Amino acid sequence: MTQQLDTTEIGAARGRVDARAKVTGTAPYAYEHHVDQATYGHLVLSSIARGRVTAIDATEAFAQGGVHAVVTHENAHRLADVSDGELAVLQSDRVGFRGQIVAIVVAEDPETAREAARLVQVTYDEEPHESVLDADSPDLYAPDQVNPAFETDTDEGDVEAALAEAAFTVDAVYETPVQHNSPMEPHQTVATWDHHDGRDRLVLLDSTQGVHPVRQTLAPLFALDPQQVTVEAPFVGGGFGSKGMPHANVVAAAIAAKHSGGRPVKLPLTRQQTFTLGGHRTPTVQRVRLGADADGRLDATWHEVVEHTSRVKEFAEQTAVATRLMYDSPNRRTSHRLHALDVPVASWMRAPGEAPGSFALEVAMDELAVATGVDPVELRVRNDPASDPESGHPWSQRHLVECLREGAERFGWQTGVPPRSRREGRWLVGQGVASATYPLNVMPGNEAEVEALDGGRYAVRIGAVDIGTGARTILGQIAADALGCPVGAVELSIGDTSLPFATVAGGSAGTTSWGSAIVAAARALRDEHGASPAVGAVARGVQPENPDTEQYSIHSFGAHFVEAHVDAHTGEVRVPRMVSVFSAGRIINPTTARSQLLGGMVMGLSAALHEETVIDPSGRMPNHDLAQYHVASHADIGHLEAHWLDEVDEHANPMGSKGIGEIGIVGAAAAVANATFDATGVRVRSLPLTADKLGG
Ligand code: MOS
Repeated sequence: MTQQLDTTEIGAARGRVDARAKVTGTAPYAYEHHVDQATYGHLVLSSIARGRVTAIDATEAFAQGGVHAVVTHENAHRLADVSDGELAVLQSDRVGFRGQIVAIVVAEDPETAREAARLVQVTYDEEPHESVLDADSPDLYAPDQVNPAFETDTDEGDVEAALAEAAFTVDAVYETPVQHNSPMEPHQTVATWDHHDGRDRLVLLDSTQGVHPVRQTLAPLFALDPQQVTVEAPFVGGGFGSKGMPHANVVAAAIAAKHSGGRPVKLPLTRQQTFTLGGHRTPTVQRVRLGADADGRLDATWHEVVEHTSRVKEFAEQTAVATRLMYDSPNRRTSHRLHALDVPVASWMRAPGEAPGSFALEVAMDELAVATGVDPVELRVRNDPASDPESGHPWSQRHLVECLREGAERFGWQTGVPPRSRREGRWLVGQGVASATYPLNVMPGNEAEVEALDGGRYAVRIGAVDIGTGARTILGQIAADALGCPVGAVELSIGDTSLPFATVAGGSAGTTSWGSAIVAAARALRDEHGASPAVGAVARGVQPENPDTEQYSIHSFGAHFVEAHVDAHTGEVRVPRMVSVFSAGRIINPTTARSQLLGGMVMGLSAALHEETVIDPSGRMPNHDLAQYHVASHADIGHLEAHWLDEVDEHANPMGSKGIGEIGIVGAAAAVANATFDATGVRVRSLPLTADKLGG
């Protein structure tokens, strides 16, 4: 049990403290900062998928005038560490995917830089390449582990024998496409080299989910102490995982600033460039086999995953990991295999693993419901495990059944209605359900500082980043309760490496990890300086280890209910209504939390209906912009409701909260797919659920 805060500010619905700055355009994003003497970078990307650069002719580019440098593998600043194939920018003539950085133009203004980049002539020696995932490839391999550090394969009991004896089985292959995070603000960095205390210093204004992680990653590349790298990210226009680890563009900015005559370089990516440089979600091919008794009780669960990975740098997504604990099934097997290709580097995208994995498992559960004749809500209730099947640990809380029951009630779930039996005019109408889960991730090592100011005010400092989630708002609420003061008495500083160490805004771990450090700092201030500390009294706190995370299995849960309408003639899918209920511990701020949960649901709906990046046999991503990679917009979204159970998880952290950034997307696409099946009687096992797949 973690010592819980007395809550006054926590739980209050508060608007974002930075809302006015954002809507009035006065909140500065990385590129918008004024820096003296700025120059402007623009990237030249490879037009082959594999091979070598044999020549680069920059004559025409320089003929523009105003071009300061064309940085290539021949003249680029040498990095001290080239072990990361993604970040070793311009360190060799090798090309590993179409859209990789082959040159950086630095110019007096952005227009000149972009035009000059167009005029750089690159000659290649092209080699044969592979860019299309093939789940039957003889070259598949098992990674050592899957993101971030899960076992690649698990095998419990005898899944084959259990399947052979099962009264009902499901055996189907599910596919999810490449997806792109697509935050509103493309990746961008402003890089400056200067001298500070007699040493080189790299100063970055970056659009990132973690200023300290950027410092930690970039320092060794440039043979610097971490203290020689400062990173600021006061405002960030979304990330969804794509800014969770620094990508090649950040290194490119720092290299470019070595070639700009000591002047700062502003290096933005175009939207199209973010498609090959900003990370993406791997495509998956997932075979799920389920075996159940006559009552629908699972005896066998077998989830096999094939993904792609870039030959430049491995990323193995943990697609089947949630299947290990989702339902009670004595015999379980999961595996992950990778197909290494000459494609851009895959990375994190909101709920990496759980999001695509839940599509396969939760559609398979729907198929089992149909096979057994058990209602899909009841089937999930029936298979709810009393303890974590994987670790054997007790749950801190597992309220999936409550989410399912409350969601069914709020949605108006109908039992016993056969598929393709409801129609409103030309629309076939169906309902679908799916479960969600997401782990409590805790990232260790966070620190915070609290200082007593005059007038009963406090400065609270932590190098966390608010990427648009509301972190700046809710960390103030946590600090207020930790200090026993009104939220208005807290002056919170975040988004800068000059502030105490903080981990990435990722894994739905920010509030838990940063909040625990703030609570520790506040408690230290009280311990060291008493209830009324003198002005100027300062205390530091380090996030303590939480032994409960070893003894309990701590997860959030949820249930989505979707009404889908499918045009009987064209197969077009509309989702007029979605009701979701979550169990995520204490909700710290209902206003920002609802926004996070709705955002996840919208992203899941978008994955269900629209999102698909094509990687063609040439290695191109032909739909690499937001005109052709459609992200759900207002017209695509109907009535959405996000609800949560009123609860506190005292094992999770001093706030009693669990993460909410990602669980909203988990299972959402499956619920839509299950509703379209119910509407049409057509089972679609690949995303997105486009009209062609549903037939007319
Ligand atoms: Mo999030 S995909 O864990 O940054």
